[in-house]
Amino acid sequence: MTIKNICCIGAGYVGGPTMAVIAQKCPNIKVTVVDINESRINQWNDPNVEKIPIYEPGLSDIVKEARGRNLFFSTDVDKAIDDADMIFISVNTPTKTYGIGKGMAADLKFIELCARQIARVAKDDKIVVEKSTLPVRTAEALKNILDNTGNGVNYQILSNPEFLAEGTAVDDLMNPDRVLIGGDIDSPEGKEAVEALTDVYAQWVPRERLLTTNVWSSELSKLTANAFLAQRVSSINAMSELCEKTGADVNEVAKAVGMDSRIGPKFLKASVGFGGSCFQKDILNLVYIAKSFGLNEVADYWEQVILMNDHQKKRFAANMVKAMYNTVSGKKIALLGWAFKKDTNDTRESAAIYVADYLLNEQAEIVVYDPKVTEEQIYSDLDYLGSRSGDANRQAVTVVNDPLEACDGAHAVAILTEWDEFTTLDWQKIYDQMLKPAFLFDGRRLLEPETKKKIGFEFYAIGN
Ligand code: NAD
Ligand code: UGA
Repeated sequence: MTIKNICCIGAGYVGGPTMAVIAQKCPNIKVTVVDINESRINQWNDPNVEKIPIYEPGLSDIVKEARGRNLFFSTDVDKAIDDADMIFISVNTPTKTYGIGKGMAADLKFIELCARQIARVAKDDKIVVEKSTLPVRTAEALKNILDNTGNGVNYQILSNPEFLAEGTAVDDLMNPDRVLIGGDIDSPEGKEAVEALTDVYAQWVPRERLLTTNVWSSELSKLTANAFLAQRVSSINAMSELCEKTGADVNEVAKAVGMDSRIGPKFLKASVGFGGSCFQKDILNLVYIAKSFGLNEVADYWEQVILMNDHQKKRFAANMVKAMYNTVSGKKIALLGWAFKKDTNDTRESAAIYVADYLLNEQAEIVVYDPKVTEEQIYSDLDYLGSRSGDANRQAVTVVNDPLEACDGAHAVAILTEWDEFTTLDWQKIYDQMLKPAFLFDGRRLLEPETKKKIGFEFYAIGN
């Protein structure tokens, strides 16, 4: 079976880039990305390709090449479903904020809505692909919904979790470590569906990196991969605190440890804490699943990764207050970076939000600069926490477009996102314009310490 027409429900950080790359690499497949968010679709269709809603290095060039040729963005979900032979579900699966499992379980209401819409609209057989990150055995629920319409349409459900990281999405999609496809490989129809999706990826991914498993292994592997990655960050962050007490340097420790080929050097960068839309939500989901099977030790083990991360964010902010003579009340503090990592405009769960909130509770005056995040987003992130009124947030926080302006007259500067441009700022000029003593807190181990100390900064970095 050859796929000719793909529909992707959800034009977000995963659906958008993933489908753009499929469309670019497979010019014979028509790819339609649909979303209920009309303004997001309008942005994807903006004639100025730089205005697409997601910032990812290299993405606008791909959209420019494929859009209007075989890549389309639309709000007409029904039509796209009807036309497609393969439907990717790539909608958000956030942590539940209500009812059973509140604060832990994944909220699957958007997934279920997609399934019901597919069930209502489809007139011929479809392959439905879970692209969103889902609790293990979600495919069973999807199948129950899809198979109960009585209209004779046959469905195959595949799990094809996405492993891209934001900021490197295009590279990750072009050259993935592996592509995981879970399907019902014991039935001929299931096998055929797996082969159809494998053939799509095989147009640019070497066959040996296309991995086939059963559906449940595939669903669970995605949660496991994120848990393992986040665990590494919490592990090195735990060591960063011990380094600060003992004179060890966390970068040196990470290098020494990472040179063991069994451990490996990647993902051992100490930081102000991991953020992003997925690590926390997926581990909480894993904890919830383990608890629901009565596996309390398994649940507690993974929950510790989150607790360590909460601690890291809090202790970074607490250290700032402590260093500044135990008070930041009325002091101007410049935060450089708001995104949860460099090269993205995504701020979901960014450590910067929590550091700012802590400092605002201590009555600091905050000025924020981030090269890609809008003022509106920064206020909305703070308002979402509900710690104080929207007016109070707007009164205490200023957002500027120039890093030097942010630091002008500040008591302290904190680096919260590792944007490359912060390394080449005129740090002498920044120092000259700050109040003295001038505090510089590096939450990303981005800056070279000796030169900053030589300028005169009171310099603090995570992990030494
Ligand atoms: P997102 O919030 O950026 O995008 C989801 C989109 O789905 C939104 O635009 C929303 O309007 C749309 N949507 C929701 N319900 C819909 C419906 N019924 N019909 C049409 N559109 C609908 O989310 P995201 O970051 O792209 O994540 C999507 C999934 O992929 C999540 O499960 C996430 O865990 C997973 N994931 C994310 C990343 C990442 O880096 N962001 C990486 C791998 C996996
Ligand atoms: C992560 C995974 O890396 C992807 O494989 C996965 O597909 C994705 O989650 C997902 O499921 O959403 P992402 O969150 O986009 O990707 O970005 P990461 O590069 O993993 O960074 C996550 C956070 O950890 C960032 O705040 C980053 O600054 C922090 N981090 C990462 C560290 O503090 N130290 C490190 O060594 C690495």
